[in-house]
Amino acid sequence: MTTTSTHPARPAGPPPELRRLLLNLDEMPERAAAIVAAHDGVVQGRSGPVRVAVMCDPGLARELLTRPAGTTQGRGIMVLKTILGQGLLTSSGDLHRRQRRLVQPAFHPGRISAYAHDAVRAARERSAAWRDGDRLDLAEEMSSLTLDVVGRTIFGTDVTEDAREVAEAQADLLSLFPRALRPTGLLALRFPTRLRRRVRDDVARLDRVVEHVVAARRASGDAGDMVSMLLAVRDEETGEPMPARQVRDEVLTLLLAGHETTAVLLSWAWFELAQTPSARAALDAELSSSAAQGAVEAGRWQDLPVTRAVVAETLRLRPPAHVTTRITTEDLEIGGTTVRRGTICVVSPYGLGRDPASWGADAAQWRPDRWLDADGRYDEAAPGQPRGAFLPFGAGSRVCIGAAFAQMEATLILAALATQWRAEVEPGFDPGLQPLVTLRPRRGVPVTLRSARTAAAPAR
Ligand code: HEM
Repeated sequence: MTTTSTHPARPAGPPPELRRLLLNLDEMPERAAAIVAAHDGVVQGRSGPVRVAVMCDPGLARELLTRPAGTTQGRGIMVLKTILGQGLLTSSGDLHRRQRRLVQPAFHPGRISAYAHDAVRAARERSAAWRDGDRLDLAEEMSSLTLDVVGRTIFGTDVTEDAREVAEAQADLLSLFPRALRPTGLLALRFPTRLRRRVRDDVARLDRVVEHVVAARRASGDAGDMVSMLLAVRDEETGEPMPARQVRDEVLTLLLAGHETTAVLLSWAWFELAQTPSARAALDAELSSSAAQGAVEAGRWQDLPVTRAVVAETLRLRPPAHVTTRITTEDLEIGGTTVRRGTICVVSPYGLGRDPASWGADAAQWRPDRWLDADGRYDEAAPGQPRGAFLPFGAGSRVCIGAAFAQMEATLILAALATQWRAEVEPGFDPGLQPLVTLRPRRGVPVTLRSARTAAAPAR
């Protein structure tokens, strides 16, 4: 998708393609490309009384997300607020700025290296429980595995006992999300409706887990985990600790934001690897070297270029956070177009990641080697892509605080497990897309596990 410096006259009225553009992810790249030519990178239209603008041009998508003012978060966030309170994901203004400063040290590179060992340990324990010929759903496995990692790193504890509670409450909340997002949804959450009762029950279950862990950390002192760190921080100006309610909101935010997204990423990575023998062979070649096994053992995820490329390519083609929205709080000029106050602005990392204008004619193909340079080094900028074409973690002041953590976790889990296992998917199986809050595979990723004999035995 490209912008032109001149602005051709727009067809009158909202483009009829808009609704289908938003509703049918698979058709998005082609439709967007066709529309952009006429609409100069920003497609505007109405859905009932709601004004919508889709940023189809990578530069404009990035511009929207990095704007210092003039937008607020979208509707989904208002719904999430009823669950997460005022945690990082849902707070705004000064509170968001202050909390971001306070929480940031939990994601310092030094801390991430420490969490890396937890990720590897969790993956190896999972691997030890698998058997050759096991048939299982890797989407479920990855979900419980990333919850395990989040338990160790955020809570500093084994959450196996609480895991079922968290997983069930979260699954129920996700299933209620589409209902809560309807125009009447927010109202239904304010009155004593069935929807509100179910949401409250789920939140109460999550709260019990969080309370139990926070109490344990208060009693035990710093265990190197994120909860310990949040309890230890002091406000620069007042010297006060973080209020208990704020700790609860932040912990719950990290717990939910940090587990589902990475699980979805890993599920798709397994699926794509099973479909693409050449990429799997390149991964096996990397993992069979003792240097790579040393890197996994030491948690040095940056030293696994091919595994990183698998993760990056999956983020491009199957971004777990497939859509990010903002609402304009004033009339904004974006790409030579006026976007009126109150418009829902949509950035689709899914559409941007599949656009042939950014990624070439083979944009729809899952090809990890596009992230490697001629010497086989991982190149974060994926040679040639325009800025804004790869936004799986967003951009600007609200960019994902867990981006490095997630890449570390996904890379090491994949490396540790793929050293031992390959996954076979039934020929012709189509997982389908379930674009709820995250872009889950609708039918999961059912596989048969096979021992990966090509790999070197991992150091334990
Ligand atoms: C593959 C995994 C992940 C993806 C694709 C992802 C994606 C995103 C995106 C797109 C945003 C920005 C939303 C917006 O601009 O409105 C975001 C924000 C956020 N993410 Fe992630 N995320 C991932 C993993 C994680 C992890 C592991 C954690 C924590 C342990 C985390 C915590 C957060 C938080 C707290 C925010 C809100 C930041 C703020 O507004 O200041 N995420 N994430």
